[in-house]
Amino acid sequence: MKILMVCLGNICRSPLAHGIMEHEARKAGLDWEVDSAGTSHWHVGEAPDRRSTAIAKQYGLDISGQCCRQISVSDFDEYDRIYVMDKSNYTDVLSLARNQHDREKVYLLLGDKAVPDPYYDNSLFEPVFRMIEAGCKKIIEEELQKSARRD
Ligand code: 4NP
Repeated sequence: MKILMVCLGNICRSPLAHGIMEHEARKAGLDWEVDSAGTSHWHVGEAPDRRSTAIAKQYGLDISGQCCRQISVSDFDEYDRIYVMDKSNYTDVLSLARNQHDREKVYLLLGDKAVPDPYYDNSLFEPVFRMIEAGCKKIIEEELQKSARRD
């Protein structure tokens, strides 16, 4: 499965989601390909925000090699699922969708609640990490249960 993680800047939340999902999927023995992108072009070409890199490092993950890019319409062809962090990402990504098939690929990472934007609040990086980690683990758990039912 190919998964794209999306937030506004692609420097704070989605790089964490990218690194965490990659790590958790590998740990679960799932051959998933993960990438991330931003709805904005503001930070294209930049490495993740150093506060995200630092919190990831604290939890044993190295996300420093990632490079910011902007989402494009072709990502709907490339990816099976697109996970967004908040409602405004959701609206922005849906506005790029060409048809119902595209729209059905877009989900909020946490299902019913938003991952808050930590850009202007240093104290949010740790809770954001934990929320994203819990969301990724839940998605993997659901996927493992689905495949167990198929066996
Ligand atoms: P992100 O956070 O969407 O989690 O990457 C932000 C990064 C940059 C900005 C806003 C949010 N910005 O305004 O530049």
